[in-house]
Amino acid sequence: MHKRKKKETTLPLSSNLAKRLPLPIMPSNFLRTANLFTLNFKSFLLILSLLLNVYLLLYRWHSFVPPSTAISLDTASPTTRHHIVFAIASSSLSWPKRKHYVHHWYSPNSTRAFAFLDAPVVNASSSLSDVPPVVISADTSKFPYTFKRGLPSAIRVARVVKEVVDRNESDVRWFVFGDDDTVFFVDNLVETLSKYDHNSWFYIGSNSESYEQNVKYSFDMAFGGGGFAISHSLARVLARVLDSCLRRYGHLYGSDARIYSCVAELGVGLTHEPGFHQVDMRGNLFGMLAAHPLSPLLSLHHLDILEPLFPDMNRTQALEHLFAAANVDPARILQQTVCYDQSNSLTFSVSWGFAVQVSQGNELLPNLLSVQRSFTPWSRGSNVNAHFMYNLRDYPRDPCRRPSVFFLESVTTNKRGIWTNYTRRVVGHCFESNPLKQLKHIGVFAKKLELDTKQMKALRRQCCNVLPSSSDSMIIHIRQCGTDELISMQY
Ligand SMILES: *[C@@H]1O[C@H](CO)[C@@H](O)[C@H](O)[C@H]1NC(C)=O
Ligand SMILES: *[C@@H]1O[C@H](CO)[C@@H](O)[C@H](O)[C@H]1NC(C)=O
Ligand SMILES: *[C@@H]1O[C@H](CO)[C@@H](O)[C@H](O)[C@H]1NC(C)=O
Ligand SMILES: *[C@@H]1O[C@H](CO)[C@@H](O)[C@H](O)[C@H]1NC(C)=O
Ligand SMILES: *[C@@H]1O[C@H](CO)[C@@H](O)[C@H](O)[C@H]1NC(C)=O
Repeated sequence: MHKRKKKETTLPLSSNLAKRLPLPIMPSNFLRTANLFTLNFKSFLLILSLLLNVYLLLYRWHSFVPPSTAISLDTASPTTRHHIVFAIASSSLSWPKRKHYVHHWYSPNSTRAFAFLDAPVVNASSSLSDVPPVVISADTSKFPYTFKRGLPSAIRVARVVKEVVDRNESDVRWFVFGDDDTVFFVDNLVETLSKYDHNSWFYIGSNSESYEQNVKYSFDMAFGGGGFAISHSLARVLARVLDSCLRRYGHLYGSDARIYSCVAELGVGLTHEPGFHQVDMRGNLFGMLAAHPLSPLLSLHHLDILEPLFPDMNRTQALEHLFAAANVDPARILQQTVCYDQSNSLTFSVSWGFAVQVSQGNELLPNLLSVQRSFTPWSRGSNVNAHFMYNLRDYPRDPCRRPSVFFLESVTTNKRGIWTNYTRRVVGHCFESNPLKQLKHIGVFAKKLELDTKQMKALRRQCCNVLPSSSDSMIIHIRQCGTDELISMQY
């Protein structure tokens, strides 16, 4: 019925065109009047038929297109936690020891996640209940693995991409992959992934902090421990072709190299998001946490190899302490804000929710944005070439040249905003007289940082003021910068 109607409405259009052909052989006078008349009449017919076509198109759309494929509606709604499915690569041996890392960021009510294991855990004696359901991976022994001294489980872990897609979970916009010792900051992931169209093909992650690791693998590979995201549209295609890639890349070491190779074969490159952290370093992460890139914190990895993130705490306590701040103002966690106290000639650098550093004199902003070398290389050995993907500055040997460091003590919220308090931690003794010695506490006040997608795409660092306070404490107020405001000491 619709077909016939459509034919009728298209007929006048084509016949109009046909009628135009004989016109040029008519006498010119007649032609002008006749032309005017036919033009008007033709225009009328044209408009009429166009309107009819539009009507029919709309009518057909409503009567034939099922609501589930109305893509325009789908892209218009904002991306939420519900749209992300996490796939955690683990094993029966490591899951009992590491699931507490997942417990830190997973919430059964709002996060969707699965842990992929090689076999069921025999001694499931742990009391942790808020962890994702376990899925046992399929056997992958038929795929080749020829990397010397590597682990063939890399194939199973790479295949998690296929296994999670093949579960046919509904309403998924992004698949996010990580290890059982990857800690995600879920709200920041939601905001970050909202910048990208999940219906297009995206492979989003970050490479290693170690230059040598990136040379060995690829500067354009998303390192698996830092976690990475794949849009549902790319993931579905990747799931279909992955097994063919796995047969071709038996000589590679890890699962992430296999995924990278297959994504590359599909013609897709890595979208770098600096908030993912593979953390290929050892020791103290302070320098990196105190000068985090101007980008939301998305993940941390290798936490059981590093020293606890806060002094005088064990690893679990320290991570919980960081999350106490991150849960209150996720977008602001570790964001670096710098301000100056001109009258006392002091420079303040806040890494929100972690630490505040106070230096005497005027420290120019770019110096403070460089990363203090507080950590050691991932690869150990005397003749190891170690270069980091950072602009590094050395930790001063002279305690008098070091900034005073204050670590997060407490977080409190009220109607007006969020207070974080930081307490001084003394490392080494400087015997010079120093007006900063009396300073024991720093309070930082800020409103919750809420960024829309437009602001997320063009981030700007915030500004702060140092407010007059008592001799042993100071208050810093973080706020939006003025249009022309410069982050520098004002004279
Ligand atoms: C999850 O939802 C249930 C039922 O709605 C509720 O009782 C429970 O407190 C929630 N848990 C968390 C951690 O929000
Ligand atoms: C399970 O744990 C108990 C107590 O820790 C231990 O005695 C037992 O041997 C374990 N069983 C297996 C199969 O590992
Ligand atoms: C997912 O959907 C495909 C195609 O419809 C089907 O073959 C497969 O069995 C489904 N998988 C699950 C776990 O339901
Ligand atoms: C860390 O400290 C807490 C509190 O003191 C304690 O309950 C927990 O067992 C400690 N964890 C480890 C791994 O030592
Ligand atoms: C710590 O935070 C509270 C608000 O919770 C505030 O009243 C107090 O002054 C702060 N302390 C310092 C030393 O800034």
